[in-house]
Amino acid sequence: MRDAYLDRRGEPPRVVARAPGRVNIIGEHTDHSGGLCLPLALDLSTWVGVGPAHGASDTVASDLEDGVVHHDPATQRVGGWSAYVAGVLWAVRRTCEVPPVHVEVVGKVPVGAGLSSSAALTCATAVAVHAWTGGRLDEAVRDALVEIAVAAESVYVGAPTGGMDQAVALHGVPGTALLLDFATGTREPVPCTPDEDGFVLLVLDTRTRHTHTTGEYGDRRALCASAAALLGVPHLSAAAGLPSSALAGLPGPERAAARHVLGENARVRATVDCLAVRDWHGVGMLLTASHASLRDELKVSCPELDLAVATADRAGALGARMTGGGFGGCALALVPKGRSADVEQAVTEAFAAAGHRPPHVFPVVPGARAEVVLAPGPGPT
Ligand code: GLA
Repeated sequence: MRDAYLDRRGEPPRVVARAPGRVNIIGEHTDHSGGLCLPLALDLSTWVGVGPAHGASDTVASDLEDGVVHHDPATQRVGGWSAYVAGVLWAVRRTCEVPPVHVEVVGKVPVGAGLSSSAALTCATAVAVHAWTGGRLDEAVRDALVEIAVAAESVYVGAPTGGMDQAVALHGVPGTALLLDFATGTREPVPCTPDEDGFVLLVLDTRTRHTHTTGEYGDRRALCASAAALLGVPHLSAAAGLPSSALAGLPGPERAAARHVLGENARVRATVDCLAVRDWHGVGMLLTASHASLRDELKVSCPELDLAVATADRAGALGARMTGGGFGGCALALVPKGRSADVEQAVTEAFAAAGHRPPHVFPVVPGARAEVVLAPGPGPT
């Protein structure tokens, strides 16, 4: 980051921050419905360097996409990935003065893969800009930066997000998954170290890309909201308190969405119980059940994800599921260490036979939350 910044700007960055992507173990399409989820911070991050723009407007540059993008949000239409940076600056400036800034981005989280490269970018930008303005990074500030990152994505970029990705990017703890309850706003680290018992979490990146600015993610959220409204509850997870017959009166798609959210919340609780006693076979079964619900009830999977999950299960995984918003991106498989080469080979062969692009398979372990990597020198003034 220092070199990239120095090459482009002729001076080092004043601040560098890092934020991780995430992989969600279970609890998918529940955060927007007051539910539970269990993500972990990835050991892959995005780095953001910040310094003075030395001009009237902000500048943003990156190696995120092919080639280098240089962007000036003040004078050009803001689109693509740089809108996420511009969105954070917009959200921060609602309460705090920030002089024109140069933002340099080096991203190591695969983009559009369902691993939350967008939250890694918004959270790293928020942490860096906050540090540059002289702010410290305590727990309350981390919560405020989650809100800034969410606002940047949902309001400024127009890519709705439920808040799971930003919460784990700013609060994830190595060696643990983070149990998030979106009804109460609480979070709790849950130890998650499959490697100590001879298992590995493998990401199966289908390399089919998704974008949440297209409507499908929003459509599913709207379906969940509509089911909640019809049931007269503030969010779908609150329907757990209704008699089971209540769902019967819903139209088919809303009923299926309700079954997914309520079932998925129960699966998150069961997964936490399994993790407490290191019952990895139990976790695996819950992963596969979650995938079936996302595929059949909420209908957010796609043929590549279904093939990756089914093939991994057949090749020796304890269980597998799509992870993230869906419609492409990555699956996650829980695999005995000795079988991970078999799973990789089987998925690669199945993709070749189906005419899909070769998948990218790699192990993940729970990584560390966002942090300031290079502390601020002289402030923005
Ligand atoms: C995307 C959103 C998250 C969450 C997941 C689905 O990643 O950003 O908030 O809703 O989809 O679980």
